[in-house]
Amino acid sequence: MKKWVADKLICPECIEEQVRLELKIMENISDDVLEGELYCSSCSGRYPIREGIGIVLPKKTRGVIMEDRGYNAPNMLSAYMWSHFCDLINDPQATEAYRVWSANFQESEGDALDIGCAVGRLSFDLSKSHKRVIGIDTSIAFIRKAREILNRKQIDFDLIVEGHITEPRTCNLNGNWDLGSVDFIVADALALPFPEHSFTTVAAINILEKVPDPMKHLFEVDRVLKENDATFLFSDPFSWDEAVSPPELWLSGNGNEQYSPRGIDTMRRLFAGEYGVFKPPFRIRADGNVSWKIRKTANLWEYITSQYLIGSRA
Ligand SMILES: C[S@@+](CC[C@H](N)C(=O)[O-])C[C@H]1O[C@@H](n2cnc3c(N)ncnc32)[C@H](O)[C@@H]1O
Repeated sequence: MKKWVADKLICPECIEEQVRLELKIMENISDDVLEGELYCSSCSGRYPIREGIGIVLPKKTRGVIMEDRGYNAPNMLSAYMWSHFCDLINDPQATEAYRVWSANFQESEGDALDIGCAVGRLSFDLSKSHKRVIGIDTSIAFIRKAREILNRKQIDFDLIVEGHITEPRTCNLNGNWDLGSVDFIVADALALPFPEHSFTTVAAINILEKVPDPMKHLFEVDRVLKENDATFLFSDPFSWDEAVSPPELWLSGNGNEQYSPRGIDTMRRLFAGEYGVFKPPFRIRADGNVSWKIRKTANLWEYITSQYLIGSRA
């Protein structure tokens, strides 16, 4: 974890008080801390840095890094590496998804946060237009891979063909990315370890439906985003799942008359300032649908329409 990331961090258990974390370094290579600890002087919380990965999770979600299923499973790594870098490895089935999302980034003097960054593609793209970029995710396998790409300056993975049969895929990085200005940590979208108004851009792509409390996630976006000169890039397929979040917390599709039947319409109302989440509200600068694919095996694909809104604060 780069030292400049540590300078931005607060304790995820002491968010209201915005208590800064103290960095103790055990081993480092130049500005990259390989082994160390982040310490909260208020609650005495300790957050490890192991093999370069900072784990800044609240107690409630800390167990997720021990799981070897879900987003930590090897088949997910193959699926998301393909999804994020299919265009760069010149796969004939590649989508334009990340090009579409990234086309809307604006040059900024400030920093960007990519919430639920997975293996990092959007964070790398954000580095072209922002001073610094932090990608966060609860999957340690994804964050490990994203940091490996940073350090090796190469994209390298085993693509699952069928069962245990894999094929290697490799390619060099896009020359426009500024790798020195990007880093990745394990953190929770529902307890972002950053002070209020830290970022000029926040991206939350395909994560709203994946968190147990979608509205809390949006309040966290608003807390860390600047009040002026700020952009929120939001995209989601709204494929709510009871295994992830209880239906009463969904922002659409649950018969709750407080919300619109379709999620994108509820999001438009949220962007406009309804429900008191986004203060100040956003002007919608761009919107649309992105065709996004996840490739599980040679014969198993998920085709997803992710609906996006890009909101600006003047
Ligand atoms: C559907 S994937 C989308 C990944 C990426 N944004 C993209 O569009 O390719 C959802 C991501 O959110 C992450 N995630 C799920 N719950 C999270 C949470 N509470 N905090 C941070 N990341 C989370 C998952 O590990 C996964 O990488």
